[in-house]
Amino acid sequence: MTRSFDRLLVAGGAGFIGSNFVRLLRTTRPQIEITVLDMLTYAGNRANLAEFEGRQGYRFVHGDICDPQLVDGLAADVDAIVNFAAETHVDRSLLEPLAFIDTDVRGTAVLCDAARKHSHRAFLLVSTDEVYGEVREGRSREEDPLKPRSPYSASKAGAEHIAHAYAESFGLPVLITRGSNTFGPYQYPEKLVPVLVTNAIDGLPLPLYNDGSAVRDFIHVEDHCRAIDMVLHDAPISDPIYNIGSGIETSGNQVAEAVLEILNKPKSLIQYVADRPGHDYRYALDVRRITDLGWEARINFAEGLERTVRWYVDHPEWWRPLKSGEYWDFYKGNYRPLKR
Ligand code: NAD
Ligand code: TYD
Repeated sequence: MTRSFDRLLVAGGAGFIGSNFVRLLRTTRPQIEITVLDMLTYAGNRANLAEFEGRQGYRFVHGDICDPQLVDGLAADVDAIVNFAAETHVDRSLLEPLAFIDTDVRGTAVLCDAARKHSHRAFLLVSTDEVYGEVREGRSREEDPLKPRSPYSASKAGAEHIAHAYAESFGLPVLITRGSNTFGPYQYPEKLVPVLVTNAIDGLPLPLYNDGSAVRDFIHVEDHCRAIDMVLHDAPISDPIYNIGSGIETSGNQVAEAVLEILNKPKSLIQYVADRPGHDYRYALDVRRITDLGWEARINFAEGLERTVRWYVDHPEWWRPLKSGEYWDFYKGNYRPLKR
């Protein structure tokens, strides 16, 4: 099964994974015309796409996926939508849950509705392994029930249900990817890896919730983007959901120790802090379906982390301006001392 597209709308393309996805497409499929729609929230950054500005086959539109008129006009000119746009940080979802429902659920509905009206050839929702909820043992498979536990993961599950409803009710050709914890260049320094890396560069404490034992499946952003590209082009609509991950479990402690070793900093920088409410201690994915499609991770965690640390060391002009003002207000309110 192979699908091809002349024009794509990439919603949320100015964020971390979206901008890496646009870079992949520009390199490997330069014939596809790309429109990026992004509201440029605190996490969106037009500078992530600066190299494409003014180039043929690329345009940037500043706007909200929740705006039906705007989305309808853009959807009229493309064959498919890939939706990265979302509020994405669990800790922020505990402070401002409604913003997550608005963008992640309603925004996805607005995009699906426009895709339906314009008879698009595909609608790909970039979702997350967090929709399965905490997985104490075993590995999540695509047919497992969704048991999200945070406002973030619940809103992503809501987005998935909306997309399914459009597939069932209107025949919208929906595809869904459930990616694991992604790291690499251009990641806003609020998620685990870039918080640890940028703090370690500056000799600041590395905050780990509770005892640092929670595990995640980490995947390099280039591998994640190649998998999304493969699902978009090659996955059958009859088998629309794909877990994307490395299949390897790594704890917060292991990430922090690896970062400190790469930067030659002392382990004493690790600081255990009060736990995240409702913290999911483990996610683990069965990735057989995406590997059967022909994908495999090419960058292992050690190599990916080394490359990522080097990127943050080499690009202080990208992340230093982000760590100011509102960033520190959030940071100071988020991390509290651990009481044992
Ligand atoms: P991000 O926070 O870096 O980027 C999100 C982008 O969406 C930003 O550019 C932001 O400006 C834009 N946006 C937010 N609200 C918008 C709105 N209403 N209208 C238009 N644009 C809006 O996120 P990311 O880490 O790149 O994640 C991208 C997608 O991948 C999300 O849907 C997320 O749920 C999913 N995902 C992320 C990870 C991860 O580890 N980062 C893992 C699996 C899945
Ligand atoms: P995070 O990057 O927020 O992603 P997720 O959406 O999977 O929770 O967190 C990854 C893991 O790291 C999770 O177990 C929470 C933990 N964590 C810390 O210990 N300290 C931190 O500063 C952050 C941001 C996360």
